[in-house]
Amino acid sequence: MNKKTTHSIFFSPTGTTRSVIQAIGRGIGRPVENLLDITRAAPSPLPAFSEDDLAVIGMPVYRGRLPGLAARNFQSLEGNSTPAVAVVVYGNRAYQDALLELCDLCAAQGFLVVGAAAYIGQHSFSSAGQPIAANRPDRKDIEQAEQFGRQLQQLLAETDPSSISMPEVPGNRPYREVPSGPFVSATDVDSSICTGCGNCVAACPTHCIEMVNDLPQTEPDNCIWCMACIRNCPTGARIITLPKIHETAQRLYADCQIRREPEIFHPLGK
Ligand SMILES: Cc1cc2nc3c(=O)[nH]c(=O)nc-3n(C[C@H](O)[C@H](O)[C@H](O)COP(=O)(O)O)c2cc1C
Repeated sequence: MNKKTTHSIFFSPTGTTRSVIQAIGRGIGRPVENLLDITRAAPSPLPAFSEDDLAVIGMPVYRGRLPGLAARNFQSLEGNSTPAVAVVVYGNRAYQDALLELCDLCAAQGFLVVGAAAYIGQHSFSSAGQPIAANRPDRKDIEQAEQFGRQLQQLLAETDPSSISMPEVPGNRPYREVPSGPFVSATDVDSSICTGCGNCVAACPTHCIEMVNDLPQTEPDNCIWCMACIRNCPTGARIITLPKIHETAQRLYADCQIRREPEIFHPLGK
């Protein structure tokens, strides 16, 4: 079967998930690639998905689960027995129940999960002084993702997707419990070097930063600690103010230096 459109769907506050999903899309190599960035909202108008399309769906791992906001934005999409690949990207610690949760979510939204994968991205809490999976996905990861895309394209050219079982992936049901918070902002702004460019406002997935008198103000209730504002600040004016983030970064820097490699879960034919 010749798939026509690849829908590359991703939630990616700091850009690593996006890089992986786009690399898989390049490997699939279909003439039409529809990029659907669901980081700040569900797409509007909602796209229609057909049985002849292929969806590559990527989300980062937060606390061994999917970010609640990513799942909610995705839930407005409806597949139509559309073949899909579920991909999580994690910061070299662990992905726990996140990949299983994404496979289940895709199935619940009408997609046929024909493949799954876990990739590694630079940890959102990584810094120059305490690098954690710094600069990942790197060239090797990207080549691997492109190769995965080529394998998928070949598989779908040779096999009827409805005959492919959802791959078995690690994880447990019920998924691990995570607190529904945080309800406290992780970052603030150093007004002495902030230029008021508004990049942080534009990058925030929860729209919880707004400009007040040319300075960004964060509404703490909705901060999800994603670090999009930090990564997108051109002058380093956005700073992490929450001690818990510094403590976590220190612990991850000490414990998560052994390089993990991407894991691919090949579709299992019935
Ligand atoms: C709040 C939060 C929780 C995270 N939890 C985990 C985790 O449980 N395991 C892990 O390995 N990485 C974890 N990470 C790191 C991200 O999964 C990783 O940096 C990912 O590449 C971010 O994707 P993005 O660049 O698309 O935003 C967490 C990051 C954040 C912001």
